[in-house]
Amino acid sequence: MTTYLLALDQGTSSSRSIVFDAQGRLVASAQLELPQIYPRPGWVEHDPQEIWRTQLSTAREALTKAGLTARDIRAVGITNQRETTVVWNRKTGAPIHHAIVWQDRRAEPICAALREAGMADTIQQKTGLLIDAYFSGSKLQWLLDHVPGARSAAEAGDLAFGTVDCWLIWQLTGGASGTGRHVTDVSNASRTMLFNVHTNQWDDELLAALRIPRSLLPEVLPSAADFGKTAAEVLGGEIAIGGVAGDQQSALFGQACFTAGMAKNTYGTGCFMLMHTGGKFQTSANGLLTTAAAQPTATPLFAQEGSVFVGGAVVQWLRDGLQAIEHSGQVQQLAESVPDSGGVMMVPAFTGLGAPYWKPDARGTITGLTRGTTIAHIARAALESIAYQSAALLLAMSRDAVARGGTPVSELRVDGGACVNNLLMQFQADLLGIPVVRPACVETTALGAAYLAGLATGVYQSTEELSALWKAERRFVPTLSKERADELMQRWEQAVRQTTAL
Ligand code: G3P
Repeated sequence: MTTYLLALDQGTSSSRSIVFDAQGRLVASAQLELPQIYPRPGWVEHDPQEIWRTQLSTAREALTKAGLTARDIRAVGITNQRETTVVWNRKTGAPIHHAIVWQDRRAEPICAALREAGMADTIQQKTGLLIDAYFSGSKLQWLLDHVPGARSAAEAGDLAFGTVDCWLIWQLTGGASGTGRHVTDVSNASRTMLFNVHTNQWDDELLAALRIPRSLLPEVLPSAADFGKTAAEVLGGEIAIGGVAGDQQSALFGQACFTAGMAKNTYGTGCFMLMHTGGKFQTSANGLLTTAAAQPTATPLFAQEGSVFVGGAVVQWLRDGLQAIEHSGQVQQLAESVPDSGGVMMVPAFTGLGAPYWKPDARGTITGLTRGTTIAHIARAALESIAYQSAALLLAMSRDAVARGGTPVSELRVDGGACVNNLLMQFQADLLGIPVVRPACVETTALGAAYLAGLATGVYQSTEELSALWKAERRFVPTLSKERADELMQRWEQAVRQTTAL
């Protein structure tokens, strides 16, 4: 009898569910858009009930499409947009507010106060994170301070906090009916700025600094563990929830990057690059975050992470802002209609620059324009900017690795929507001077959660078994000389220096 695993992938813009077989092959999938709520500039919210409704509906649809029932599914894995913060009433199950999404900047004054209080080193040493409104802790403090009655209800033990995985597990396991489990995994907990990644425990000093009552917090388990069972009525039968990981850590796992030095880059709206660092906690000297990797057992495992804020979104800008193309798929053709960018460099710092630059006020720039520049050169420069920003992250990771006596990254595994663009992947390999490898299954985020669920329930015995399942679809081998690649990176850095603050 074939073994099947169901992965729930709750992302920022959509909820998706995928049924995999035990060989990691996609059997069926379903997807629904998630409405975005923008109450004010810089604020981004989701309705937690919509998160649950869309996720549940895609899970049911994926099962139907696969022609399977709950009884055919060995285990459920969950992966999710990280940091997004939900608080709900334990008795009624009602959220006290919309979820505050990871992109939301409203908690910046709380972060400024933490920086002023001299907490930066403590927070980095304990959590691996740089103080920023990106993470859940300051969003949670904001909710307790601004939602009427929230703080006293929290102190009375009536409220529960969770990232999206935790909210979904609570709902899947029966919610307010009394059976709902309030649990999360280490990779999601590591994005809260409240979690000590050395001990894998919530940290009292950080809870005090952010004025968070402990009673709000979920139990934290490894990423492959017993997270409970789906309540019978939810998916038509009880299924073990065995795997949970934040989406970027899940993608690292789905790419079978299990050992120090292995790295992946996900090309979505933004780009998220993670490099496994094994069992060693190492802070970056080059502006990267340290984070818990997905942990199949209680042993702490770490990764370094850098993100590009505007990745594939630059193609949307070419379409909607410049109206250079009608639909995103046309970008490769337009960019390929010229042999190169003709000296044009574009830095799409539309919302500042993230790692390794951390220039929150930077705004975008296009340099190197001549009378001969056409829209095709600009499209090519826009596409190349995704590769330049990603290369800067990988170089920062390699610099960190070498400074610690290790070796630079030797291969980059890629996934996410824009990894289908061959021109972009080839340019990425050219800039990096290492092979860029696209796997046969690019649904690595969902696959990672399925693998974790399979590990927890005995479908797989070890990560070695999972490594054997990983297959390359195409290797992009560098064709540029190192001198030329270095020269291009220098020109890129020069263009970054030309970005001006708002
Ligand atoms: O840290 C935010 C990240 O987890 C969001 O990922 O794929 O939902 O945009 P995504």
